[in-house]
Amino acid sequence: MISNTFTRVAVAAVASLAVLGLAACGGSGTKTASTGKAAGSGGVITVGFSQVGSESGWRAANTKNIQDTLTKANGFDLKFSDAQQKQENQIQAIRSYIAQGVDVIAFSPVVESGWDAVLEEAKAAKIPVVLTDRAVDSKDTSLYESFLGSDFVVEGTKAGEWAVKQFGDKPTNIVELQGTTGSAPANDRMAGFKKAIEGHPNLKIIASQTGNFTRAEGKTVMEGFLAANPKIDLVWAHNDDMGLGAIEAIEAAGKVPGKDIQMVTADATHDGMQALVDGKINFIVECNPLLGQQLADVIKQIMAGKAPEKRILTKETTFTQDQAKAALPTRQY
Ligand code: AHR
Repeated sequence: MISNTFTRVAVAAVASLAVLGLAACGGSGTKTASTGKAAGSGGVITVGFSQVGSESGWRAANTKNIQDTLTKANGFDLKFSDAQQKQENQIQAIRSYIAQGVDVIAFSPVVESGWDAVLEEAKAAKIPVVLTDRAVDSKDTSLYESFLGSDFVVEGTKAGEWAVKQFGDKPTNIVELQGTTGSAPANDRMAGFKKAIEGHPNLKIIASQTGNFTRAEGKTVMEGFLAANPKIDLVWAHNDDMGLGAIEAIEAAGKVPGKDIQMVTADATHDGMQALVDGKINFIVECNPLLGQQLADVIKQIMAGKAPEKRILTKETTFTQDQAKAALPTRQY
């Protein structure tokens, strides 16, 4: 089977000749590598982006950054849709972008599985696809050009390693607020954390349930955890929003978050960092939502007939309460 990269390079060669031909004829369009069709007049690149939803502060920052970067001034015509955390809405949006004949499709898959059919359709239409933020579990990696975003296993591992350091040999009951079931960050953060605390039998995950990455569901699930478990020492929330919801539930139960029940979360959004500074969260593992510029660069590479790196990792850190105090005033999200 001819690989997508091969096809792209071959088409790029043909496209380059075609561009020369067009230029000779006075044409103004720029040929794209994968599609072999001209980007709009003036070289504007049409991008169809299907976003997961607006479930969290992280997601709001990610959406804003993509919309602020893929602008007309930067050479893009961005078509944006919000899937409201539903895979069927994303599939519908991707099909609509295929029908519209956009130059590139980018999306952040709500869950990992079930994308092969629609990605095959994009490939058949010769529309390159870029994954942002979250992965798909497709075996055929030629179905997308590049995947840019965090390593969620590493994020879960950092949270678990912090728990090991913080609690040492003390008997510790942990409750876990999982992200959206079947999503890459929920699967990977859960796995990374579990692995990091392996070999420390005093650290026990006594309950684990999805809070769907939202503050409201984080609060409801935490209320259930508190009602069912008289001794909880640590909450591991897969994002700040669920952690912030859990804080509300803990306070409503007359306990002190950060002291009676310690908290470790992922993201490091402004609200999460403020709770860390206020002592209600004990440690945050960063997940960087500012993916717009990398996405713009990858799209421009594809349109120029170059193969982007298949996996582009986001640089991330962690925050203690003191580090959060120093970082918060200049935090971008
Ligand atoms: O995929 C990234 C995750 O999705 C973020 O941690 C979370 O806040 C968001 O909803």
